[in-house]
Amino acid sequence: MSHSKSYDWRPGPRAWWDPRGRGLGYWAFVLHRLTGLGLVAYLLLHLWMLRLLARGPDAWDAFIRTAKSPLFLVLDGVLLLGLVYHGINGLRLTWLGYGRVEERPARGVVLVLGLTALLWLAGMGALLLVVR
Ligand code: HEM
Repeated sequence: MSHSKSYDWRPGPRAWWDPRGRGLGYWAFVLHRLTGLGLVAYLLLHLWMLRLLARGPDAWDAFIRTAKSPLFLVLDGVLLLGLVYHGINGLRLTWLGYGRVEERPARGVVLVLGLTALLWLAGMGALLLVVR
């Protein structure tokens, strides 16, 4: 005779996509995953573009001219933002991986966002100086 009703407590894959009631840490994780995948996509694109080197200096110079266009600079900005966020947040996750427990997790995320903004601004400044 069974006294307890069977109850499946596992949320299942559908719950992955349910954003309700999630904290800042969840959104930081989502952004970490998206930027991680974006960086992999960029790496593949980057390797693919390097094939132009085999076509000689003219092909490469033409590409570099395109790469200095305003549209490419905006894309560079997005790339740099994703890279900096992923790197800084990755350090936070590594720190947590050592068993550190954040008493107020939102603080860590806010710190990551602040550092990301500062480093990104510095990086964009340097990029614009070089490209000018
Ligand atoms: C800048 C230095 C970087 C640091 C400190 C870093 C750190 C990390 C850490 C700690 C994780 C595990 C996150 C977790 O436990 O949930 C991770 C995941 C990942 N990283 Fe990085 N990473 C860096 C650069 C990169 C680069 C350059 C790429 C791509 C070329 C990349 C792609 C990924 C991907 C695809 C994941 C898996 C994301 C997921 O499963 O949610 N990372 N990174």
